[in-house]
Amino acid sequence: MNLKGKVSYSSPSNIAIVKYWGKEPGDQIPMNPSLSMTLNQCRSFTTIEYELKEGLQPSVEVWFEGARAPEIETKMEIWLEKINAFYPWLAHAALRVDTRNNFPHSAGIASSASGMSALAMCLSAIDNHVRQKESGDVFLQSNTARLGSGSASRSVTGPWVLWGETPLLRGSSHEYAEKVTDVHPYFTQLHDTIIIVDKEPKSISSRAGHSLMDGHPWREGRIHQANENMTLLLKALKDGDWKTFEKVTENEALSLHALMLASRGGMMLWKGNTVEWIHYLRQQREKTGVEMAFTLDAGANIHLLYPPQASEQVETILQQSPVSHHGFIRDVTGTGPEKITDTYEQY
Ligand code: PMV
Repeated sequence: MNLKGKVSYSSPSNIAIVKYWGKEPGDQIPMNPSLSMTLNQCRSFTTIEYELKEGLQPSVEVWFEGARAPEIETKMEIWLEKINAFYPWLAHAALRVDTRNNFPHSAGIASSASGMSALAMCLSAIDNHVRQKESGDVFLQSNTARLGSGSASRSVTGPWVLWGETPLLRGSSHEYAEKVTDVHPYFTQLHDTIIIVDKEPKSISSRAGHSLMDGHPWREGRIHQANENMTLLLKALKDGDWKTFEKVTENEALSLHALMLASRGGMMLWKGNTVEWIHYLRQQREKTGVEMAFTLDAGANIHLLYPPQASEQVETILQQSPVSHHGFIRDVTGTGPEKITDTYEQY
């Protein structure tokens, strides 16, 4: 059967509370389980135009934000190679990918998570037509996304998603992410305001970052800590316990950066204003008692999480800050990818 079509998805980024940092031997196997909140606003928009035809040489052309992107093409070829066991039709597929993000590059928002999950969703939709199925398998979507970028495994669904095998969640796996469903209503509508402290793109790739955990003197301690934090976090999410959520969130963010600081080469991704902001936010929390917790990804920018009822107070705190910044990006809890187009014809 020959097939031709066009499929588009938008897929969100996510923010990890318990962080994935470091791998085990194998293909993208995490050193510890991680848990994130799927975002709603910060998204990649990806379209694949495709032709599947017996005898066709496989090819892929990638356009990123309106320009041909050979670097992404190379990465994509490697990824397609990894996942062709799941989608054998890739061996005779011509793909043209067009992708863009609705958030700035430099925002310190995981664009690999949104980008790779959007691609995984598009390929899953094509596979449905090949196999004449109604819907795709979320575990396969997550697994293929993971093989492109670990954190992307958690962006194929929402709002709370765990990746990595742990006795704490039945069905959890190193190969795909699993939704956490036992969540108190308190945590179903959080805000995430991203404080842009630094506009420059981060100076290290996450691949290089993860490799710093190989032979890291704190590796075993980190695995233990992440598992303990996961236990606390799952219980806090279930019970609606903000105080514990806040403690785990900030401990994970600071530990991630402490691991970087203590690794070979002493990697430091904070800027002076990252530290200034953290002091300011903690001071304000002490003073007002407002419920807010900060976290950081592998970059200098701050994600500030808070429940909707704290919005007004947090807004005042942000507006009155003496610490400079390059703007705020406002996001909230989201539920995952959305299909935009899916048309095809057999010939
Ligand atoms: O998925 P990667 O390889 O880009 O790694 C993501 C690492 C962190 O963003 C720092 C943490 C996480 O779990 O998302």
